[in-house]
Amino acid sequence: MDKFVVRGGNPLLGTIKVSGAKNSALPCMAAAILTEGEVILENIPQVRDIETERKLLVSMGAEVELGYGRAQHRTSIKCAVLSDPVAKYEIVKTMRASSLVLGPLIARTGIARVAMPGGCAIGGRPIDLHIKGLEAMGATVTYDHGYLEARTPNNGSAPLKGAHIVFDKITVTGTEDLLMAATLAEGETLFENCAREPEVTDLAALLIAMGAKIEGAGTSTIRVQGVSSLHGARHKINPDRIEAGTFLVAGAITGGDLNVDCCDPSHLGALIAKLEQCGVKLTVGSDNVRVRSGGGILKASDISTEEYPGFPTDMQAQYMALATQTEGTTLVTENIFENRFMHVNELNRMGANITVNGRTATVRGKSDLQSAAVMCSDLRASASLVLAALVADGETILDRVYHLDRGYEHFEDKLRGVGAQIRRMGDVFGKNRRATDIAS
Ligand code: UD1
Repeated sequence: MDKFVVRGGNPLLGTIKVSGAKNSALPCMAAAILTEGEVILENIPQVRDIETERKLLVSMGAEVELGYGRAQHRTSIKCAVLSDPVAKYEIVKTMRASSLVLGPLIARTGIARVAMPGGCAIGGRPIDLHIKGLEAMGATVTYDHGYLEARTPNNGSAPLKGAHIVFDKITVTGTEDLLMAATLAEGETLFENCAREPEVTDLAALLIAMGAKIEGAGTSTIRVQGVSSLHGARHKINPDRIEAGTFLVAGAITGGDLNVDCCDPSHLGALIAKLEQCGVKLTVGSDNVRVRSGGGILKASDISTEEYPGFPTDMQAQYMALATQTEGTTLVTENIFENRFMHVNELNRMGANITVNGRTATVRGKSDLQSAAVMCSDLRASASLVLAALVADGETILDRVYHLDRGYEHFEDKLRGVGAQIRRMGDVFGKNRRATDIAS
């Protein structure tokens, strides 16, 4: 199993480039199911979840090419024939976002069989809202031996019907899944209380390029006029706002001077505002943010995770690492997921002073962090531990970094390029991952 060895103490200096957003790329790849035409996606990150989705699509009969060399961030997907429209457990169990194929599969073929996703490291993550939405569109959903089977009306022979769907709770992949289903439904679908995340907008841009009729993506109300078929398209994936945010915290925590390049600062509003409240110096450009240590003491500032445009839950763990280095007490409230504080014990093992009471963690800073052997528990928790290790005294060994490989492209190479002392030990993209270790 791969490990990272990180020696703390170096300020990060120079320019670091942000890759394409994994959480945009995943639904965009699933959208290719909706058409027989070729969908070409650019700025695809080379991360494990993308490889998993490729396997999933291939297992259903799709032709998927992931580019190499100069074209390494491009993928071409052709679902001319879906010979086996089933999302099998062996693949679904390793990635929760596999539920994103449910909507496009039923819309395209009339019948979708998708293995129920397993448990998850960051709390129970149900897909009841995906199912409720499909039922409102006329689908019949049954469960059989761990598989969910959804059929359109007339036993899978008629299309889904447009509906008025009000999400009980804001869900990102739920909005994406049903948005894809609605593109090929008969008539109009009106969605309310939708997720407004940039990843939803990115997916909608691709769907519109494929011929879908969608209005309002990026707001809480989305209106879709169903069409009878969609065609191929070419689309460039948005920069990854969570990777960009992680690098901003890396620059701030190490007291460096880091230019986070190829990002979209307009997607980083809540984090930028919070870092400024802490006293971090930021210069925001059109596609970059420069983060500098002001030389002074960083101040504590509370966060409370919310749906976009609020403070992202996917930045909570990384921000907590920074909070250990600010003067004063920071309250970190996690409102989106239960059980998303698994990094706390590991940070405490490195010398942090954090207590958890329900959904709120209290971080008392500033702590002198020390190196330790620590364990990564999910994707973003892993990033948080690397950030802490960058300022810890001595050499920290992080175990189970395969979590990090799910969503960060060449993380250690990028950090080393700006002066971090970080190296990987063990089998690169190793073989010993536990299938149940899944997260965001
Ligand atoms: C997506 C992101 C993940 C991010 C999360 C919140 C992807 C691949 N993953 O996850 O990185 O942390 O958004 O920004 O894009 N819920 C239900 N029923 C459902 C669906 C969700 O109760 O059917 C609940 C969840 O348990 C959670 C909340 O809704 O409490 C939000 O979850 P959701 O937005 O669906 O997260 P994901 O889309 O899985």
